Amino acid sequence: MTAPPATWAEFWRDHDVVGDAESEADAAGFAPEAARVLALGREDDLLDVGCGGGFVLAALAPTVRSVVGVDGSPRLVEAARARLAGVGGAQVHLVHAARPGDLGAAAGRRYSAILCHSVVQYLPDVAAAEALVRALLEVAAPGARILVSDLVVADSRWADARGLLRTAWRRGTLRDAWARLRRARGSAYGAVRARLGLLAVDPTRLAEVARRAGAHAEVLDAPISALANRRHLLLRR
Ligand SMILES: C[S@@+](CC[C@H](N)C(=O)[O-])C[C@H]1O[C@@H](n2cnc3c(N)ncnc32)[C@H](O)[C@@H]1O
Repeated sequence: MTAPPATWAEFWRDHDVVGDAESEADAAGFAPEAARVLALGREDDLLDVGCGGGFVLAALAPTVRSVVGVDGSPRLVEAARARLAGVGGAQVHLVHAARPGDLGAAAGRRYSAILCHSVVQYLPDVAAAEALVRALLEVAAPGARILVSDLVVADSRWADARGLLRTAWRRGTLRDAWARLRRARGSAYGAVRARLGLLAVDPTRLAEVARRAGAHAEVLDAPISALANRRHLLLRR
């Protein structure tokens, strides 16, 4: 029997969430919101940090000039590469999950738009989240927009369930949301979440880190991700 993951990095490394219909549905809901908030257009070079299986990148690729993804999970990097195989020039790089400030091979370029969606809550501590925000700003071209989205402000499974249902109510997908909540209870993700929890951050603290690095920073509480209770950070270089 394999030991349960001791960290989220181990979970993302070992657990097969690839091809997950929920990831695909979340990406279908989130990608248009990200495109709107980041004001994506044909001149944009987009970097997705913590791109997972590449669902969001694949959805956004037709909107922009180029796409690059990075992720700390070798199996998800492979999945994203396969998903983006038909997208000209797309690159997906493996980074060290234990070094959130190190964007590896992606750091050799500058990007006009950067996305980091549903990643910060899986970092070990707030210092890692701050290092990640600084790293995003370092690879941002002048005028770049950066969206760090789906931030957990208080780690509560009840608040997340209510947030999921609120979004589902607005989108007319309540039946799917109930089924998803039922599945979550018995899932590997649900078990790890119950044991390890998620990293909660104060978005105003991350905004302050960005301002100290010379960026404009705004905290958004618009319901742009699948969970209406999450917050988002919009930065401008
Ligand atoms: C919930 S998934 C989100 C995937 C994708 N952003 C999406 O919205 O579909 C979290 C992802 O963050 C990645 N991740 C977590 N910590 C990371 C780190 N320090 N560096 C790079 N990727 C990381 C995981 O490997 C996983 O793919």
